Amino acid sequence: MTARPGDTDRAAIDGAAIDRAAGVLSGGGLVAFPTETVYGLGANAADGSAVARVFQAKGRPPTHPLIVHLGDAQQLGDWAEDVPATARLLAERFWPGPLTLVLRRGRHVPLETTGGLETVAVRVPAHPVALALLAAFGGGIAAPSANRFGSVSPTTAAHVRAELGDAVDVVLDGGPCQVGVESTIIDATGETLSILRPGGVTREDLEAVLGRPLAVPAASPIRVPGQHPSHYAPRARVVLVEPEQVVTEAELAQGLGHQVGVLLPPALTDAPVKAHAVVALPASTAAYARELYGFLRELDQRGCDLIVASLPPEQGLGAAIANRLRRAAGPRPAAGP
Ligand code: TXA
Ligand code: MG
Repeated sequence: MTARPGDTDRAAIDGAAIDRAAGVLSGGGLVAFPTETVYGLGANAADGSAVARVFQAKGRPPTHPLIVHLGDAQQLGDWAEDVPATARLLAERFWPGPLTLVLRRGRHVPLETTGGLETVAVRVPAHPVALALLAAFGGGIAAPSANRFGSVSPTTAAHVRAELGDAVDVVLDGGPCQVGVESTIIDATGETLSILRPGGVTREDLEAVLGRPLAVPAASPIRVPGQHPSHYAPRARVVLVEPEQVVTEAELAQGLGHQVGVLLPPALTDAPVKAHAVVALPASTAAYARELYGFLRELDQRGCDLIVASLPPEQGLGAAIANRLRRAAGPRPAAGP
């Protein structure tokens, strides 16, 4: 059978490709791999100098901690200490899956991996390629999203190559990510659990398992670097308005000479809009989450300099989408490179 262009990498993910990638990790190299949320840029989490290469490739400040990906919850004890019973309950219920637990750092976890913190973030991803890589490698893989610092996370292997190019030794192509937004991060270091970043596991599902409410993100002290104002941002400036003002605002800006991209709420998808590029948002929140970063990249590619959007209702995955859109719309550093 002849492989068609574009599917060669996916066809090549067999045991041998996984073993080669695991060998690259053991040798201190970088492997981009798919997870159910977004693509990760992986390095041996136990090797401080391999982890330093991740920061370099991303252009990420070394004080921003990475998530350690594990093959299964049994390995928790190698990476974290004093794991509370509630954290074990969440791990049991949601792993493999888009949930990250922040716990006390195990003694041998390099400070490079935790950005100098005495805590460590861990998760077991739910993707066959990620799990095969973790099984072949045997250790923990430190992996942030495989994008340049501050920009939109990649949800396809093509996004990773476009953004990081030769900085990555291997890119494993596992097709488009199914969840599309990053994992939910829970601070499980203290008595009271709180959500540091809303993501692929919903607050409602977490509370149903815990049997009590979780602290809201805004109530948590800002200690997650991803919570800096501008993050998850496309090149185009993002402006958020009320859903019923999206069309008026877009047409006004287009009239002023902007190349306007519109994320059109599902209730308005029949509205004709005089703008440069219009994306009709899917009615399903899961589909919106899956496509969000792809839409932002598409509007950049189509030459938009301004994106007009509104926040979805903040229930379920809507909370994660709203969080990312707010960050994308946050104030940017004055001068870019
Ligand atoms: O879905 C995901 O979580 C993806 C995939 C690849 O697993 N990863 C991801 O990594 O989004 P990254 O580095 O882009 O975002 C990780 C977030 C950062 O905001 C970081 O500050 C936070 O996790 N984090 C990591 N360790 C932490 C710690 N010890 N305490 C608090 N926050 C931590
Ligand atoms: Mg990221």
